Amino acid sequence: MLARLTELIPSEVTRRLGRALFSLPLPPCRPGVRWRVGPVETNGPVGIAAGLDKDGLYTRALSAFCPGFIVVGSTTARPRRGNRPPLTARLRPRSLVNAMGLPSPGLPVVLSRISKVEYPLFVSVAGFTAGEILEQIRYIERYGSNVRAIEVNLSSPTYKGMWDKAAPLLESKKPLFIKTGPTSELRAYLELARRGGHGLVITNTLPVADPRIGVGRGGLSGLWLYPAMMRMLEKARAHLGGDLPIIAVGGVMSCRQAKAAMKLANAVEVLTGVLYYGPDLVKRLNACAAQP
Ligand SMILES: Cc1cc2nc3c(=O)[nH]c(=O)nc-3n(C[C@H](O)[C@H](O)[C@H](O)COP(=O)(O)O)c2cc1C
Repeated sequence: MLARLTELIPSEVTRRLGRALFSLPLPPCRPGVRWRVGPVETNGPVGIAAGLDKDGLYTRALSAFCPGFIVVGSTTARPRRGNRPPLTARLRPRSLVNAMGLPSPGLPVVLSRISKVEYPLFVSVAGFTAGEILEQIRYIERYGSNVRAIEVNLSSPTYKGMWDKAAPLLESKKPLFIKTGPTSELRAYLELARRGGHGLVITNTLPVADPRIGVGRGGLSGLWLYPAMMRMLEKARAHLGGDLPIIAVGGVMSCRQAKAAMKLANAVEVLTGVLYYGPDLVKRLNACAAQP
């Protein structure tokens, strides 16, 4: 019902309404479940994916809805303006095209905003050079004592494929998770994760053309992405065996989908589902995905 209603409202309007809701000073949820995603302890298997709280402004409010963990970002090393609007457009059923263009106030601002949030937090870093990514990893090691893990976004459609051939060598004192996309060369990313002992996040959005978006193209998320995500997840798990943690993200909105993904993944993330059903979805999915 809520998702049907949401489909009738322009996506730019719901994005702004969400901004107001998530700015409320709500108290964090008390953890019901203890979960492990590889080396990282979380409050459950279903977290909020990178992109909902890019600037660290909503982290505290989101923690009131009992996600297993929250991924803040993606950040860039220095402030960056995003693309010209419209930035999002809906697609039926329950899908979205977005081209935010990796806007960020810069990692130092984001880290200072979330420094007092006591909740399982990941920070997603994006970068246009290996130096920009490594600089942010070092910064989080030094100043992000409450950040439990780092997601390295190597697959934003904004890059236009630039990391496909030359992924940077990565190492960190914090657990690292490499985020891959549907057009990335999966094997190269699997090898990168295996060599470094890093986790994987599967998947980012699928690059598509869309004349409704300001820059004429964007990344597809939501239900349309789910089958591609599951195929990638199956390939990755078959290739890696049980050794490395994998987080599944792409169109998960129901208990059935979350459970299917959890057969192969160690955790699930959700974004577009939250935009259609509201943040309470994550609480519901957390409860059912934790059961066998
Ligand atoms: C509006 C929007 C912004 C996003 N921004 C980011 C981002 O900054 N970094 C990132 O790694 N992924 C970003 N994503 C991708 C999501 O984290 C996720 O991988 C993708 O949307 C698939 O999951 P979903 O179908 O549950 O949304 C964004 C997605 C959306 C819809």
